[in-house]
Amino acid sequence: MAEGDRREREEVHFSRSPRPALRHLGSRDTYLMKGGRMNSKLSLIFSRRSVRKYQEKAIPDEMVTDILEAAMAAPSAVKRDPWHFIVVKKEETRKQIASLLPHGKMMARAAAGIVVCGDIEKAHDQLESYMLQDCSAAIENALIAANTLGLGACWLGVHPRKDRMEGLRNLFKLSPNIIPISAIALGFPRENPEARTRYNPDLVHWEAW
Ligand SMILES: Cc1cc2nc3c(=O)[nH]c(=O)nc-3n(C[C@H](O)[C@H](O)[C@H](O)COP(=O)(O)O)c2cc1C
Repeated sequence: MAEGDRREREEVHFSRSPRPALRHLGSRDTYLMKGGRMNSKLSLIFSRRSVRKYQEKAIPDEMVTDILEAAMAAPSAVKRDPWHFIVVKKEETRKQIASLLPHGKMMARAAAGIVVCGDIEKAHDQLESYMLQDCSAAIENALIAANTLGLGACWLGVHPRKDRMEGLRNLFKLSPNIIPISAIALGFPRENPEARTRYNPDLVHWEAW
């Protein structure tokens, strides 16, 4: 992404619905724009959006590794790290993944894809829920890392849809303990959805429900 574009992305305005719980913000360093107020230190969280349109520009392998280092910095129950990441740059393979994912057609036009899999044998107590929670934490870290590096990314749902899981299992010849959980489409962004939160004070319960 050109430096100018990046700067524009960094200065993206926080413009969401008014946030009634402003009293909780105290003296924190905040942005107040178009009625929305957010902590500017968290701007890389708020500007992470699902990006589904990409430039025709390759992503350096070093950036992919940066993203995966961030993914594998995620919390993991009993530090089992029950995750695997299949990096796909080849267009033919990305097209095959896209054909398996009804809402993942953008994978065909992405610069790269990452298929995130869990290893049920490594997960804490071999429990699916721990495996899914650990992998989801890693996926979110990867998405935030991609955004931080100026890339666009989108989480593409796989688990628990059996047809998508079986399709990916066959494509990559996965052993039975390896469970496809999601795919991430990656690329230099060709769209710039505005930063925002979906904060809703009705969903927050202080001290009691
Ligand atoms: C489990 C999960 C599955 C998702 N699957 C898809 C998908 O298949 N295709 C897609 O375009 N977006 C998918 N998304 C992205 C959501 O649509 C998106 O996060 C949501 O609309 C909020 O928008 P935001 O990411 O821009 O904040 C998925 C997100 C999650 C957490």
